[in-house]
Amino acid sequence: MREQRKVTESYWLRTAPGPAHPALDEDLDVDVAVVGAGIAGLSTAHELVRAGLRVAVLEAGRVAAGVTGHTTAKLTAQHTLVYDRLRRTRGPDGARLYARSQSDAIEHAAALVAELGIDCEWETRDAYTYVRDRGRAEEVRAEAEAAREAGLPAVFTTETGLPFPVAGAVRVTGQAQFHPVKYLRAITADLIARGGQVYEGTRVTGLAEAEPCRLTTGAGATVTARDVVLATHYPVFDRALLFARLSPRRELVVAGPLGDGRDPHGMYITPDENTRSVRTAPYGEDGRRLLVVTGEHFTPGTGDPRAGFDRLAAWAEVHFPGATLDQAWATQDNESTDTVPLVGPFHPGARHTYVATGFGGWGLSGGIMAGRLLTALITGRDCAWSGLYDPRRLKSVVREAPSLLKTQAEVARHFVGDRLRPPASVDDLAPGDGALVRSGGERLAVHRDDEGALHAVSARCTHLGCLVSFNRAERAWECPCHGSRFAVDGTVLQGPAVKPLERRDLD
Ligand SMILES: Cc1cc2nc3c(=O)[nH]c(=O)nc-3n(C[C@H](O)[C@H](O)[C@H](O)COP(=O)(O)OP(=O)(O)OC[C@H]3O[C@@H](n4cnc5c(N)ncnc54)[C@H](O)[C@@H]3O)c2cc1C
Ligand code: FES
Repeated sequence: MREQRKVTESYWLRTAPGPAHPALDEDLDVDVAVVGAGIAGLSTAHELVRAGLRVAVLEAGRVAAGVTGHTTAKLTAQHTLVYDRLRRTRGPDGARLYARSQSDAIEHAAALVAELGIDCEWETRDAYTYVRDRGRAEEVRAEAEAAREAGLPAVFTTETGLPFPVAGAVRVTGQAQFHPVKYLRAITADLIARGGQVYEGTRVTGLAEAEPCRLTTGAGATVTARDVVLATHYPVFDRALLFARLSPRRELVVAGPLGDGRDPHGMYITPDENTRSVRTAPYGEDGRRLLVVTGEHFTPGTGDPRAGFDRLAAWAEVHFPGATLDQAWATQDNESTDTVPLVGPFHPGARHTYVATGFGGWGLSGGIMAGRLLTALITGRDCAWSGLYDPRRLKSVVREAPSLLKTQAEVARHFVGDRLRPPASVDDLAPGDGALVRSGGERLAVHRDDEGALHAVSARCTHLGCLVSFNRAERAWECPCHGSRFAVDGTVLQGPAVKPLERRDLD
């Protein structure tokens, strides 16, 4: 029997460990509090500190260890097939602003890398969206035309560096790839050197919007700030139906040394085959390359990713013979119902609260863009693309109605349907597995560890009450409604939940 693929720490986090930052243990007063130290939060905090503001970053876990520490780390303005869709939904001007804003972010990151001398394995590369299915070649041709109209150096081609023929591809030249954690560690160090504060192990659990705003943390400290930026990936507080406008999607990544295989040199993605995305990165001192492949996705809480990891690794082994796919991890991003990120004022009445979310798999350029956009809004400067990303965009909400209803129908289906499923029996639980059982009149989420001991927590997600489900490959409880994730002892791994699943004794 084939041995089960082990989920490993992400390559980026393992190879850039970085210093620990203190937890916040006393009350604090700043100009701006930024919640979340992923690329969106840190980019925003960095820009604000450079603009002369007193800034504190409050991070529940570790710097860059959220989604940002688990990505494929391509920095490109080419986002699969976005431009053909944008010119239809937001008009040619919308598509142009999108291209300009994303390109501006990449140029800004390149300038920071040069200015601060950041060693983050920055490499200039062409980005490709390809299809192998001839029936989809026209889609890609239209995307090339739309991306060119939007101002990008895009062409339609059938020539790529991939080891198989393609029916068509869009190539956008002069994009980049990097090591996201090395980049953000350097940005964090510069932020602190300029007087900014960074706290780890500090989960924000409450927000009172006033003048000033007041944040409360799990450990009981209070932060007062004129402005608050919520960069928690999925927003942890909802004041504008944002929960209804975001769908989480969990994706699998496999990686390992390329071996004798030819380096495809560019950065590739296809919407076919349940998504396949490929890049390589420097690996070790002797010129070797690391192959990073992502794809295979599912709604958190609805599947067992073990077979997906195997499919992805098998695909990579067929196309890159000699590669050793010894690393595997997963992460998730949220897509907004109109597929444009939500960056700007938190809700229609917001005066001092801002959000950055819904990056739809492209939050590295998107996170840097968000930092520049939110800094402009907070410091009272104009930004040409603030309207494009404004979370309050009303016309768009009307246009989004069908996907909004679909997202809500899915949530309702889980909320009701998952409660009708027959409970499992603890006796049937194999080591490493988890299931929902009924005990004392409630559903418990029970995990049996490798030594046979049982760990029980309430199965009711502390966000809005849907029932969690077990992800065996990653040994975590996941909520299918909005993607919250919990460790087997109930600790929050990923929001929107801010409170742990309550521990229970088994009868
Ligand atoms: C498989 C995969 C590959 C990807 N590859 C690319 C790519 O090649 N290029 C690209 O542009 N994008 C890519 N993306 C998307 C990109 O990685 C994300 O959009 C981006 O990293 C999101 O950044 P963030 O700062 O919003 O979130 P995060 O990095 O998750 O940061 C949010 C932070 O907030 C913290 N937090 C949460 N709740 C609280 C709380 N209550 N209090 C305090 N802190 C809190 C979290 O701990 C976390 O550290 C990929 C996504 C996936 C899933
Ligand atoms: S994440 Fe919203 S109910 Fe669980």
